[in-house]
Amino acid sequence: MIHSFASDNNSSVCNEVMQAIQQINTGFEVGYGADPYTQEAVSVFRKMFGNDTEVFFVFNGTGANVLSLSCITDSYHAVLCTEAAHINEDECGAPEKFTGSKLWDFFAQDAKLTPEMLQYTLPNLGDEHRVQPKVISITQSTEFGTLYSVEEIRALADFAHAHDMYLHMDGARIANAAVALGCEFRTFTRDAGVDVVSFGGTKNGLMYGEAVLFFNPEPARKAKFFRKQSMQLASKMRYISAQFTAYLQQDVWKKNATHANAMAALLAQEISKINGAVLFHPVQANGVFVQLPPKAIEALRKKHFFYIFDEKNHVARFMCSFNTPESEVQRLAEDIRLALESV
Ligand SMILES: Cc1ncc(COP(=O)(O)O)c(C=O)c1O
Repeated sequence: MIHSFASDNNSSVCNEVMQAIQQINTGFEVGYGADPYTQEAVSVFRKMFGNDTEVFFVFNGTGANVLSLSCITDSYHAVLCTEAAHINEDECGAPEKFTGSKLWDFFAQDAKLTPEMLQYTLPNLGDEHRVQPKVISITQSTEFGTLYSVEEIRALADFAHAHDMYLHMDGARIANAAVALGCEFRTFTRDAGVDVVSFGGTKNGLMYGEAVLFFNPEPARKAKFFRKQSMQLASKMRYISAQFTAYLQQDVWKKNATHANAMAALLAQEISKINGAVLFHPVQANGVFVQLPPKAIEALRKKHFFYIFDEKNHVARFMCSFNTPESEVQRLAEDIRLALESV
């Protein structure tokens, strides 16, 4: 298989994580999370986020988002998100199906919500004819490869809490965000007022598995039941937990995300030199969004597999991973140049 920029989860599993799986692959352990490896992984998360953090491992990102939202909504609630949010565009309606609540989506050029956009939802509060805004869900880094600053997150958290709402973060690419912001995970989550995090790992070197983190004990009480109901309770949970311990304790997350972000920055730099290729969003993490003429997209498709993220504006998405080689970045940039020359 040639190198793929289609998605960061087209990448393989990083060595440290593979070794961690291999190391624990022996003997018998109690299932469903009552094993020492899961206890260890929970303590690693608690060291980073605070001792009272509640941690629930799940299989995938959609499961993490569904579990997060299930615990903080009722069926008459609305989850406020961007149009481009993964929960809105790419989860086949799972959040609506499992929570019964409505996703209320807002157009945002950079895939980022602001308190100003959400003001218009406030008249709904208390009106029995209307859904009740209850959760603001943001993605960090966003579906368009952009980033919320700590201050922007804090402003959304203040807005949420002032109106009795929760702030949820879809952190499928949280490591890329931490590296880009140059700060600890805790600084732009718990300390910035986020209540629940879907903490990703699969896109940055794990085989599979994500964690849901609650900083608020009340909704966390429901989580073990909703996790089982939504089929996200792993019997052999130690294989998820051990991955996270290796990933977090050895700073593997940082090494991997630093490389992925650097490759995206390099790709952006190379593309900015090409006539006719337009960087459509600021490149702040590991995603590069490029506007190309349709005929150039067609030509490029003969050599590379990638997704068009915006059909209307002809925007292709290229994701970099922990194991994207620099030579492949150069090759893609060159192929983009050739595709443009050919049309
Ligand atoms: C922003 C975001 N959230 C969540 C996910 C997780 O999805 P999955 O259920 O495929 O693991 C993805 C994966 O593409 C994503 O990009």
